[in-house]
Amino acid sequence: APLTGVAAVQEHLQELQGIAEANGGNRAAGTPGYKASLDYIKAQLDGAGFATTIQEFNAIGGTTYNLLAETPGGDANSVVMFGAHLDSVSRGPGINDNGTGSAAILQAALDYAGSGATPKNKLRFAFWGAEEQGLVGSQHYVDSLSQPEQDQITAYLNFDMVGSPNAGYFTYDGDDSDGEGAGPGPEGSAEIEKLLNDALAQAGVQTEGTDFDGRSDYGPFIAVGIPAGGTFTGAEQTKSAEQAQKWGGQAGQAFDPCYHQSCDTVDNVDTQALDRNLQAINAAVTAYAEQFPQQ
Ligand code: PHE
Ligand code: ZN
Ligand code: ZN
Ligand code: ZN
Repeated sequence: APLTGVAAVQEHLQELQGIAEANGGNRAAGTPGYKASLDYIKAQLDGAGFATTIQEFNAIGGTTYNLLAETPGGDANSVVMFGAHLDSVSRGPGINDNGTGSAAILQAALDYAGSGATPKNKLRFAFWGAEEQGLVGSQHYVDSLSQPEQDQITAYLNFDMVGSPNAGYFTYDGDDSDGEGAGPGPEGSAEIEKLLNDALAQAGVQTEGTDFDGRSDYGPFIAVGIPAGGTFTGAEQTKSAEQAQKWGGQAGQAFDPCYHQSCDTVDNVDTQALDRNLQAINAAVTAYAEQFPQQ
């Protein structure tokens, strides 16, 4: 039987690592390693019955692609999106950043399809190119939509770095509860934050908010008023003593000491953090397939 859950996510990460090794050590936008990554993900989704499309665009260094995959069923006027960037930086294979987010939403899609359920809302999964060049793929996608097409998207959930080796447990601060950063997101963002916080609590961890400032592919969505949210296990920033107390791991060290480096390999992933985030993604897929907003 095929693997499911976090074991399957780990297998996808091994595939992405192998693709990087076979293509000069990275999976950066515009390179063959990126295209091979896209082909791998697309084949998995095609095999599970998703309707896939490739959107081509130009980035630094040449042509690159977004991949969109949606459920055949569900109301096309009410689309819930899940997205992750699939490109790495050119310095390394990009397994935590962002093989983890890509592999996790892929597996959530495959496991949902495997359940045999038909969603009320259409589910659309996006794998973005050229995030590392400045959110180029997600911006291109949002710009390519007509106003009615934008209006059909009721929510966008983003997953960028969800297996950091010295993990923190952050959700995008859609309600701006700390009063810092860029302020609250579009109406509906707060309830996405709450669902993800509750799901992570269910998985055994307390979350903290992280600035909803557009530092990943949700930026172009909130800029046009689409409610958004997502999870994050930390990048170059340092884990505090208080956070280490709460979450385990090493105080005074980066959440991901291999951020944007050649050592961002399959050994740079905390399986428990990945598993907890996968559970949160699954909870969001299951809930929002039926109804969004829920309140
Ligand atoms: N977008 C950043 C990168 O890919 C990582 C990041 C994700 C930073 C989420 C903050 C919040 O390098
Ligand atoms: Zn990055
Ligand atoms: Zn990233
Ligand atoms: Zn908050």
